[in-house]
Amino acid sequence: MGRRLMNAQQLMETASALVADDKGLLAMDESNPTCNRRFAQAGIPQTIEARRAYRELILTTGGLADCINGVILYDETIRQHRKDGKSFINLVLDAGVIPGVKVDIGAKDLAGRPGERITEGLDGLRDRLEDYSRMGARFAKWRAVIAMGDGLPSWGCIEANAHALARYAVLCQEVGLVPIVEPEVLMDGDQSLELRRATTERTLQRVFAQLDAQGAMLEGMILKPNMAISGLACTTQASVSEVAEATVSCLLRVVPAAVPGIAFLSGGQSGELASARLSAINLRFKASGKTPPWALAFSFARAIQQPALEIWAGKEANREAAQRALLHRARCNVAARRGEYVASMETIAA
Ligand code: 13P
Repeated sequence: MGRRLMNAQQLMETASALVADDKGLLAMDESNPTCNRRFAQAGIPQTIEARRAYRELILTTGGLADCINGVILYDETIRQHRKDGKSFINLVLDAGVIPGVKVDIGAKDLAGRPGERITEGLDGLRDRLEDYSRMGARFAKWRAVIAMGDGLPSWGCIEANAHALARYAVLCQEVGLVPIVEPEVLMDGDQSLELRRATTERTLQRVFAQLDAQGAMLEGMILKPNMAISGLACTTQASVSEVAEATVSCLLRVVPAAVPGIAFLSGGQSGELASARLSAINLRFKASGKTPPWALAFSFARAIQQPALEIWAGKEANREAAQRALLHRARCNVAARRGEYVASMETIAA
């Protein structure tokens, strides 16, 4: 029997646990260049100790496990420790949260396709996944980015990224790690909601075709897509309910019901908008008395972390206020999973 089949039960249990109980995932796996860029914008020194202190702040937020089933760590973070010496991974496990790790090594320029990128990291991935599994990780993440623009995305870019995502997913399942499969159609551009919905649909179709070609077990994975929204520079911005309708109709057409969970990325939306849209997406089913085929959850980085990062600003004195802001956004997204997020939740907290 293949190792992946031996892991089938474990994969299904982990995948279900990641999206259980109206909670979601917290992505805190920014690569060092991305983390440093965000630190620079917030006036925080870009040092290994500042990154460690920030990740400690997040992981020691009381009550986080009431909202978050799993955290996605970065290679540097998964090897780090709290000030008192306890490893971050044990901290996560003791809190009853499932540890995961980003395993791609970033998006690089795609040869022959100006303006497009391919995510790398397949070489040696089997060995790295085994190491992470030994450390205690139970799931992994790989992000592909699809840019929209004049004539973009190309078929070649979608196909190359879908292929890499599928290769990664099956390698993860072989060692018992649940793959978070993240094809992100970037928000930049002036495209209409309809064009972006269609592009997201085409991308997801190719991702599931490649997952099928590689023999991925759909029941043991989580899809992490973008919501279908208007391009950031589009002069007509779709309403929250239009976004919910476009996103749900797109997903219903292409995501097999065997997939247990869809955990959206936030992609640069504000925390409030991401919560409002996630709530409307869930409400769309609740209001009609129907149950969606998959859990509709969240796996946000910026839409949970950004206010906390700005409040912290690298200063110990701001630590508790930053943790309160982090927990607030996490709670808003639990409400959103129930279709119960309302904007007044923001004023009550302020
Ligand atoms: P955002 O929610 O900030 O888009 O990040 C999600 C993520 O994990 C990107 O890979």
